[in-house]
Amino acid sequence: MTSTWTPASWSDRPAAQQPEWPSAAELSVALEELRKLPPLVFAGEARRLTDSLAKAGRGEAFVLQAGECAEAFGEFSADDIRDKLKVILQMAVVLTYGSGLPVVKIGRIAGQFAKPRSSPTENANGLSLPSFRGHAVNDAIFDEKARRADARRLVRAYHQSAATLNLLRAFTKGGFADLRQIHAWNQEFVANSSQGRRYEQIASQIDRSMRFMAACGVDLSRDPVLHEVDFYTSHEALLLPFEEALTRRDSLTGEWYGCSAHMLWVGERTRQLNGAHLEFLSGVRNPVACKLGPNATADEVVEICERLNPTHEPGRLTFITRMGAAQVEAKLPPLIRAAGDSGSVVTWVCDPMHGNTLTTESGLKTRRFGDILTEIKGFFAVHNQEGSVPGGVHLELTNEDVTECLGGGGLEAADLDDGQLGNRYRALCDPRLNAQQSLELAFEISEMLQP
Ligand code: PEP
Ligand code: CO
Repeated sequence: MTSTWTPASWSDRPAAQQPEWPSAAELSVALEELRKLPPLVFAGEARRLTDSLAKAGRGEAFVLQAGECAEAFGEFSADDIRDKLKVILQMAVVLTYGSGLPVVKIGRIAGQFAKPRSSPTENANGLSLPSFRGHAVNDAIFDEKARRADARRLVRAYHQSAATLNLLRAFTKGGFADLRQIHAWNQEFVANSSQGRRYEQIASQIDRSMRFMAACGVDLSRDPVLHEVDFYTSHEALLLPFEEALTRRDSLTGEWYGCSAHMLWVGERTRQLNGAHLEFLSGVRNPVACKLGPNATADEVVEICERLNPTHEPGRLTFITRMGAAQVEAKLPPLIRAAGDSGSVVTWVCDPMHGNTLTTESGLKTRRFGDILTEIKGFFAVHNQEGSVPGGVHLELTNEDVTECLGGGGLEAADLDDGQLGNRYRALCDPRLNAQQSLELAFEISEMLQP
């Protein structure tokens, strides 16, 4: 953190990927309202997450960070939130069972409403309009009015995040995440697949172990660990005026926290060393993360460590690497060495999604399950060879039975080929793994984690 850091000091630096707000007055009304609204998360929760991420950095836990590429306004019914949580809880059971490690569960949820774009405009039907930048900014429909950046959406994003987080807290602390509910997390359309059946076997073994412990006289009803889950929220801290408005001073420590989510990250397109995004993240005390793509250099990594974690606090800084299946083995080792040589302490997480996006002949963005798996395998292989720790994965997935990524799901109907992609393609932004593909991936990763 610079000695001159304030929640607003980012505004003296160039901020990439900001929308052009057509009305400064509308923006300032929205920000004023946000400044008065209560924080969404509390500093103590963020500190607990830092501790868990520190454990993942040492190989004593494993991070599962997952959720939508872009959350949608309107798509947050109770069922929707519950089913998203189900997929993550199921994956966490599979990973914990296979690895014997606690899984740190972090959603890309309750705030993932802003997107960086490769081009500021989109052209179609002879018309050039501003690109869709996430529901906190504009709408995806290709129409002039819909694409106008509307600052009132920032307030709506806050309220949807609050309602989503409220339900997540209720589900994770109020009984739904109880290990005795383990069978109920298997959604019907998943339960009939080979992954679903494999999951049921684990669930039955866990049931049996719990019956065994109860028979031995252990009072399982008393231990909150079996009945509650810690579930954290995260999103890309892209819209800095919004993040600034939700930055609050912790009454216990007097330190600043970004109170829009437990963990905030800076993306591949906004991690410029002198840019506004790194400046903002450097001063909030949440655990923070930075994406690293194949063009990241060793010098940049050292400088980012210095800017975001000068005191080498474990768990404070996570690097989320997204190299692509073909490049991970060549590009990742120099970055791990650079961070290590500089004496930094970081947690390494693999995002196997964003380096593996391709466009099919029919013009749909997709990802191959095989590439996703290959990148994760490469990530594990590189860390094993470098003596560093593969600390977790960062995934884009949905509870829905969509057809957006190619392959996976065993040899059953969910095995998608190019022709089937259009069947249930509902992505607002990037293509997501469906529930069945997500579970299959969890089984694959749990094998890599086997002690
Ligand atoms: C994302 O996580 O949705 C994203 C845009 O990633 P990246 O910054 O790595 O491209
Ligand atoms: Co994405």
